Amino acid sequence: MTRGASEKITPLPRKRDPRGPESGGPGADASILNALPDPVLMIAGDGAVKFANFAAENFFGVSAEQLCARLLQDLVPADSPLLSLVQQVHDSGYSVFEYGVTIAGPRIGDHFVTIQVSPLPDSSDGVVVTLRERSFADKIDHQLTHRSAARSVTGMAMVLAHEIKNPLSGIRGAAQLLEQNASMTDRKLTELICDEADRICALVDRMEVFSEKRGIEREAVNIHRVLEHVRRLGESGFARGIRFVENYDPSLPPVHGNRDQLIQVFLNLVKNAAEACPKKGGEIVLSTAYQHGVRLALAGSAARMELPLMVSIQDNGEGIPDDLRSCLFDPFVTTKAGGTGLGLALVAKIINDHGGVIEFDSQPRRTVFRVRLPMFPEKSEGE
Ligand SMILES: Nc1ncnc2c1ncn2[C@@H]1O[C@H](COP(=O)(O)OP(=O)(O)OP(=O)(O)O)[C@@H](O)[C@H]1O
Ligand SMILES: [Mg+2]
Repeated sequence: MTRGASEKITPLPRKRDPRGPESGGPGADASILNALPDPVLMIAGDGAVKFANFAAENFFGVSAEQLCARLLQDLVPADSPLLSLVQQVHDSGYSVFEYGVTIAGPRIGDHFVTIQVSPLPDSSDGVVVTLRERSFADKIDHQLTHRSAARSVTGMAMVLAHEIKNPLSGIRGAAQLLEQNASMTDRKLTELICDEADRICALVDRMEVFSEKRGIEREAVNIHRVLEHVRRLGESGFARGIRFVENYDPSLPPVHGNRDQLIQVFLNLVKNAAEACPKKGGEIVLSTAYQHGVRLALAGSAARMELPLMVSIQDNGEGIPDDLRSCLFDPFVTTKAGGTGLGLALVAKIINDHGGVIEFDSQPRRTVFRVRLPMFPEKSEGE
């Protein structure tokens, strides 16, 4: 039944999910499952609910006993993505993650969730469904807010470019003219005007990338080469003295992306990681992995974006301050004396343009930024 079916999707070696081995049976440790904040259901091959934890009772507004007397198809509308995901896992035997799915119904209301469906190891046709309303879903929600943040920055960048650079060059030119007849003391002031004008101009230049409207040119990008390039740049400059650990999946297929922009993304992330690392014993872990079944539901359509390629940048710094977390990807958010706060805003924009997702997990001595990207299509002439 299980294994062979998903070979049609990709012949790559897959990372196993380290969670959930033996313990999952309904009777086995229901108290542990009941303590979880996320709804967990066990569904048999015919759709019958075999187990529901407390969080699932709350989610569906029905007792576990009543849930177990029903079929999953009676709990959610017939066109719910949950049903097709469960079917897919039954058929393929592989876990599926789907981000940003809305589960709605007259009884349960509207929920924006991430769904994880995994086959039960000891059962021929049972699957476990976990619905996450927070964590991942929130992060994606943030990502979507960053998307709108990126849009407003785009507008602002266009205004800045037009309305600031022109007068600025006028100011700079006038200062240079003054400089010709200025005394030594005044010359210091005209130099100051020129330097500051240059600084503003450089800032506006950095903002201008946000105003680029044209679609990106994408090709097959070897992400390991990109990371290698970024690591070299770091080692000879901003990340000198920091230990790099590379944890790559050598069989990772190419990313469908723009190489230069992806370099910008990882340069910003690695630079932030380097700046966060402790002075002594700083360590940055660069990892890549293929994660089967990670998909982003696209708003307003039934389409799904497959995001199987995961690149993560981990550092052992102090972590992201709590008050920054909700607005981390907004422009001009910075805690650094010389920072512009545009790094992560730019990263969010580029990932967004690629159709990908970025999320972070941060605690002292372990901050991870995870970027999920689409794979270069194997048959580009096809769809
Ligand atoms: N790996 C990290 N660990 C801890 N904090 C981080 C990390 N990455 C980002 N931050 C926080 O997020 C803020 C915003 O980062 P961002 O890259 O957008 O701007 P910046 O690094 O401050 O400035 P610039 O990128 O222009 O140098 C940082 O100032 C820092 O406080
Ligand atoms: Mg930065």
